[in-house]
Amino acid sequence: MITTRMDPEKARWVGSGIPPRLRGVSLTDVEEMGGQSDAVAKARSFVEGYRAQQSKNWRGLPVNPDSYGRGLLFAGHPGTGKTTLAVAILCELRRRWGITVYASRYTDHIDRERKLVRADQSVDPEQVSRWQYAVERVRWADAVLLDDVGHEHTTDSKFAEDTLEQVLRQRYDEGRVTLVTTNLSGNDWAHRYSTPLRSFMDQATRRQIFTGESYRRGDQ
Ligand SMILES: Nc1ncnc2c1ncn2[C@@H]1O[C@H](COP(=O)(O)OP(=O)(O)OP(=O)(O)O)[C@@H](O)[C@H]1O
Ligand SMILES: [Mg+2]
Repeated sequence: MITTRMDPEKARWVGSGIPPRLRGVSLTDVEEMGGQSDAVAKARSFVEGYRAQQSKNWRGLPVNPDSYGRGLLFAGHPGTGKTTLAVAILCELRRRWGITVYASRYTDHIDRERKLVRADQSVDPEQVSRWQYAVERVRWADAVLLDDVGHEHTTDSKFAEDTLEQVLRQRYDEGRVTLVTTNLSGNDWAHRYSTPLRSFMDQATRRQIFTGESYRRGDQ
């Protein structure tokens, strides 16, 4: 039998939802790529300031109520480095502060939520527990990345839109930070989700617009 051994640094990220090619990526790695220097500098101060932003006083109340639980929203055109930087932040937060982190494409999260609702006896119980694990991580990990919000299918029931609002509000109320990446502009966002959610996003996240051309070869 041929076994391929995984790089031990990468193996630490199994179960984090982080795509294999980005496991363990650091902010220094992103700095060396050269682009989005403003966003990368802000990402570094977010990681550095995480403990202070999340600190509580002796009564268990947030010391900084305005920033407590506040995450980041990365908006911009495809290929401008949003996912890469968001994953680097998760990896650095876990390394630096030992917190639990989880990443999921929002589409995948919605698929799992839907499948769990529909799952009956015919579905392999191990598969069901894998979906449950992922869904629970999205709700309860200290820091979560919801990648590519806006790419999920919309349905008449508005399930994806309602779930997004519910997840974001619950996480914020619990003081857990969420990172969101999207190709939607502010107006598209308000149109697709709701104006109240758009306004809540300004409270629950700091917005960073990724400008410039795509770094993906072939996109230009
Ligand atoms: N800061 C950077 N400077 C230069 N190149 C970068 C930077 N960040 C990422 N890249 C490169 O750009 C490509 C696209 O990055 P990434 O997938 O993070 O973009 P994205 O904004 O998430 O795109 P999409 O909106 O399509 O999901 C990758 O190949 C990556 O290696
Ligand atoms: Mg992306």
